[in-house]
Amino acid sequence: MRILTEHGPKDYQAVWMEGGKLKMIDQRLLPEKFEIVVFEDVEDVGRAIKDMTVRGAPAIGAAAAYGMALAALKGKDLDESGELLKSQRPTAHDLFYAVDFMLGALKRGEEPTKAANRYANQIVEKCRLIGVNGALLIKDGDKIMTHCNAGALATVDYGTALAPIRVAWRGRKKLFVYVSETRPRLQGMKLTAYELRNEEIPHAIIVDGASGHFMRKGVDLVIVGADSVALNGDFANKIGTFEKAVLAKELRIPFYVAAPISTFDFDTESGKDIVIEDRDEDEVLVMNGKRIAPEGCGALNPSFDMTPAKYVTGFITEIGVLDPEQIARVRGARI
Ligand code: MRU
Repeated sequence: MRILTEHGPKDYQAVWMEGGKLKMIDQRLLPEKFEIVVFEDVEDVGRAIKDMTVRGAPAIGAAAAYGMALAALKGKDLDESGELLKSQRPTAHDLFYAVDFMLGALKRGEEPTKAANRYANQIVEKCRLIGVNGALLIKDGDKIMTHCNAGALATVDYGTALAPIRVAWRGRKKLFVYVSETRPRLQGMKLTAYELRNEEIPHAIIVDGASGHFMRKGVDLVIVGADSVALNGDFANKIGTFEKAVLAKELRIPFYVAAPISTFDFDTESGKDIVIEDRDEDEVLVMNGKRIAPEGCGALNPSFDMTPAKYVTGFITEIGVLDPEQIARVRGARI
């Protein structure tokens, strides 16, 4: 991804391995501060996943793959390390998929760094293909709405929902992106807008409650990412996705979900079985270290919601755009 630094634009990935250490952009500090953090132990990688130093399903998966590589290089118990990583966040399917991928590769004797790099490189290539496939759905002049951050920061590079937007923009299509701020962690405002700004793609930040207003005024399509997709096409994504999907159907706006096949959980029949993460109430009650809610008031903070398949126009994947009914047929397409 292109990041504008004081010395001009520079290319970065969200996570990568260098000199036997895992490096990642600290996403909690953006956009105010661009800082790279370094990890040498699987336990610290687990903490970084939990506290959202790294976030977004495919990037969490890649961080976990590198965490497994660090565990193997230090001679730690692989099954225990895998369980530790898997226990950090419950919804992003890529986390479970990446740990199992690494357990298979390491137990077959593959060199740890090589196996994790193979995993991360494949994710990047899948996101690039999601961009190519999804860009075909975008017409010159389209106004697109997205939610949360499903960009390069969330996926190592390119993004899922942002990949088609990047490819269409680089292909000289004029477009405009509505970015919903995404309370409470503000991934839309702080991360998606940051990525769009770095690429100079026209956009505006809107509050979450303004989605319906702008959809009625003329959004041409909605593209979001996913944290987990069930066999029947129900999917979980950042809280607030469901209401956008319902509004889009009511207003006849195509609603697309962009995700690599590693996000598809073929063992989960339907959305009601997807585990939704509840996070700390302070994420809602406290802002910039200061409590903004009245003393004595509590909050509920589900991090994701589940959107039924009937609201999805199509899933933009690395192997093409799929109808919800086609999901069961692509089980074998995973790496
Ligand atoms: O809680 P987060 O920031 O990890 O949630 C991220 C999202 O919901 C993204 O939209 C989703 O992971 C798709 S990322 C490509």
